[in-house]
Amino acid sequence: MSDEVLTPSIVDGLNAPVDQAICLPNEAYTSDDFLQREREQVFDPQWAFAAVGSRLPRRGDVFPVNVAGRPLVLTRDRDGSINAFHNVCRHRGLKLVEEGKRGCATLVCPYHAWTYALSGELKKTPHFGGPDCHDMEGFDRSQYGLMSVRCDVWNDLVFVNLSGDAPPLAEVMAPMGEHWANYDFSQLRHAASATFHVDTNWKLAIENFLESYHLPWTHPELNEFSEMSAHFSLLEPGFLGQGSRDYDSTVAGHPDLPLFPDLNEPQSRTAEYPYVGPNLMMGMHPSYFFVFSIQPDGSGRSVEQFEFYFVGDAAMTEELSGQRERVIEAWRNINDEDITMIEGMQRGRHSPGYQHGRFSPYHETTTHEFQRRLANRMAMHDVPTRAVAGGG
Ligand code: FES
Ligand SMILES: [Fe+2]
Repeated sequence: MSDEVLTPSIVDGLNAPVDQAICLPNEAYTSDDFLQREREQVFDPQWAFAAVGSRLPRRGDVFPVNVAGRPLVLTRDRDGSINAFHNVCRHRGLKLVEEGKRGCATLVCPYHAWTYALSGELKKTPHFGGPDCHDMEGFDRSQYGLMSVRCDVWNDLVFVNLSGDAPPLAEVMAPMGEHWANYDFSQLRHAASATFHVDTNWKLAIENFLESYHLPWTHPELNEFSEMSAHFSLLEPGFLGQGSRDYDSTVAGHPDLPLFPDLNEPQSRTAEYPYVGPNLMMGMHPSYFFVFSIQPDGSGRSVEQFEFYFVGDAAMTEELSGQRERVIEAWRNINDEDITMIEGMQRGRHSPGYQHGRFSPYHETTTHEFQRRLANRMAMHDVPTRAVAGGG
């Protein structure tokens, strides 16, 4: 249980200044009980990222997702709004939707054909009362609609709040929106998706994303167009991450992709990689944006999802397809390089020779802060506020 994993001395060890702090213990990465507590205390009470709206662009589109191991289904309703439901039939509990579908009028369970509206109401229960008798005495269909999950959208990003009582999504994402006020999200055009199944705990993917210390050794090519020494940390109450002051689109091989229109001069060569809890990472560049999410699938397995966007219709021409592809291919390769490391860290979490890792006070302030916030949330302490010296 998390109480045994997160003893008071371990939480104190994480609340220490970064140069003295001790990393989360191995069991936080290998225990299924700990993951179950994380589902309840980290994922459910927050706005967890589910999918991008571009995966269900039209009315009648349906898209199944797993959020922290819970099967959900997103539907684009007749009025164009996105709904989220537990993806399970109310009759005998079959998982209702296995694959994304287009142009659905209803959701029909494949087992006994109970039929639901895209807004969740149970519409038909064929032959439920006997041949040609679709009703049953004492059975009230209105009580057996799909179980709704609180759902909201921020700039094409669809979030769910399973506990139903998180603060409004707009409030949670406001610091990110203010930080990126110059980036016109209405210009973004969704271009591609990529899924990775990874043998690692979800937290290792996030911790890896939060620091640029590993660039020279893990990503020598990325380090050519966005080198470690040009990186800085993002250490805010609303988001954590890192970025590069010197992202070179020419060396990266996509000099002609159009930039966001209203960037200031430093922003036209800046890349930023913030994380918003519990499971959303993003990459903002002068000429493209990506969403990189993670869903735990057991303590030692995760599913990562990339969604790539470019800026404006002019970026989506045939002529620029090679440069768009270069961006996507570069991030596939970068992620493969990261996967080698985070799977190796997961294997290392089974070694008794590692328990009390340490953080670089320059490069890993964000990784430390991620672990610190998580440990305090799991131990159900308020996160102590303190001045954090930004590395980088
Ligand atoms: S389980 Fe869905 S209709 Fe029976
Ligand atoms: Fe990396």
